[in-house]
Amino acid sequence: MTVVDPATADAVAAPAPAAYRLTGVVKTYQQKGRIVKALTGIDVEIAQGDFVTIQGPTGGGKSTLLQLLGALERPTAGHVVIGDTDLATASAGQLERVRATEIGFVFQGFNLIPTLTAAENVDMGLEPAGLEATERAERVRDALERVGLADRADHRPGELSGGQQQRVAIARAIAKRPRVLLADEPTGNLDEHMRDEILGVLEQLGAEGLTLVVVTHDSAVARRARRRLRLDRGSIRDITR
Ligand SMILES: Nc1ncnc2c1ncn2[C@@H]1O[C@H](COP(=O)(O)OP(=O)(O)O)[C@@H](O)[C@H]1O
Ligand SMILES: [Mg+2]
Repeated sequence: MTVVDPATADAVAAPAPAAYRLTGVVKTYQQKGRIVKALTGIDVEIAQGDFVTIQGPTGGGKSTLLQLLGALERPTAGHVVIGDTDLATASAGQLERVRATEIGFVFQGFNLIPTLTAAENVDMGLEPAGLEATERAERVRDALERVGLADRADHRPGELSGGQQQRVAIARAIAKRPRVLLADEPTGNLDEHMRDEILGVLEQLGAEGLTLVVVTHDSAVARRARRRLRLDRGSIRDITR
């Protein structure tokens, strides 16, 4: 047993806390009576504040892993620990809380509501967090400012470029002030110029301490990550060099 003297405990450098700790993670799906093994026993730790990309062939398990990291699914076996919540044992209410406050999502197709303005779309992302109106308005303004779109708050998605639409989607994801941003092919629908625009925004958020986990086929995106993982047939490998 280790005894820590409370008077000196603060002086000891604490290790960077893990955003995620995965051990022996298996995920299987039933499909027409067959069992599909999407993840075959994954062990990986992701440090708070890291910028990690996940590459690999279609069907390799990338989206499945992201669903687990997003607390949208539970593992079939093994443990997915987010901060200090273990998905394997947490209640449905705890998972809902984790999703509402700790994790932001960004998708390839932006998933904005076309009839709502940028500000209204960002506000939608705050609905589950249960904040009061003034706090919500403040967070919407702040999030749009952080992605460089303060002057586009009243524009609808159809009046914005693809890169700007994806920046609205990022603002929606960060307005809840999550610890982690998960992105599935966030630049997949964008040309090179807009991709660089999105990469710049992601790197800025990373510099401010947000943990980034980005699934990508784009090697230009992966080159900018601090750590690169590859998922192939449900097993993971670190390919950082
Ligand atoms: N909801 C599901 N039901 C049945 N099979 C699924 C489901 N989601 C994914 N799979 C299967 O799991 C494997 C991994 O899929 P996925 O995680 O989507 O890979 P990737 O995102 O790398 O293309 C594939 O064989 C896929 O068909
Ligand atoms: Mg996928």
